[in-house]
Amino acid sequence: MDKEKNNQDNNNKPNEPHNILEKEDKDNNDNKEKKNFGKYNAEILNVSNEFSDYEVNFKIIIIGNSGVGKTCITNQAVRQIYTDKYQATIGMEIFSLFIKLDDKIIKLQIWDTCGQEIYRSLITNFYRSSSLAIIVYSIDKRDSFKDLDLWIKELKLNNSPDTKLILVGNKLDLEEEREVSYEEGKKFQDDFGFIDFFETSAKTGENIKNMFIKAAIVLYEEYINYKDIESRSSYNTFRPGYDLSKRNVKDKNGNCCG
Ligand code: GTP
Repeated sequence: MDKEKNNQDNNNKPNEPHNILEKEDKDNNDNKEKKNFGKYNAEILNVSNEFSDYEVNFKIIIIGNSGVGKTCITNQAVRQIYTDKYQATIGMEIFSLFIKLDDKIIKLQIWDTCGQEIYRSLITNFYRSSSLAIIVYSIDKRDSFKDLDLWIKELKLNNSPDTKLILVGNKLDLEEEREVSYEEGKKFQDDFGFIDFFETSAKTGENIKNMFIKAAIVLYEEYINYKDIESRSSYNTFRPGYDLSKRNVKDKNGNCCG
């Protein structure tokens, strides 16, 4: 069923960053695509799905109640598009997002799942081998926040308990309809050990890039910590989500080891 959402302007509290990355983002020229993220110069690349010249591929999944905006968040990051029209995801859809961190290109393979209850038992199979999960609620729907516990439980049952988690409160542009405060989201992040918490708007694009870039940085840093001390096979055992077979990296002599 199609559903139209209110067209409301972004009504955030002024001068109140929702996290450190957003603060850094504001400190930069907003029109500049390449920005500083901690020690990295990071940018989302505008390349086709077929692009293959990347260092490493991470599988991440995006889960949460139906209608919280998972597909819109992904479409905003990958295709820079947004629609008010609601079309429920059936099963899941896979997107590719390429992020450049300094001179390294990281591929995020994003598995966008459907939130509808009738499909839930089907999608849990897709959780396997994910390095990171983005769990989304909608700031204007308390029920979607209450259900976060269920999503975490299902994820832990169906994937490694080590899976990293990012919490997202979406629809930040609906400030006047807010039912879940920023502080509640922050507390949930702390209580459940999420690596970060972002309030986003898929509609305005606020914080969407920051969130995916943070995911890429966290996964990449873990990857470089382990790749030098473990053999390729044991590394894969440690973090099965890393698809090293797709690596296409040149050694110092210019030979490809892919
Ligand atoms: P399922 O596929 O059923 O799991 O839903 P989903 O979580 O993928 O939600 P989807 O991205 O399809 O968005 C659902 C509805 O919310 C659509 O009408 C979107 O236009 C709307 N929506 C998504 N993100 C935002 C947002 O940031 N702000 C506002 N105002 N509406 C949004």
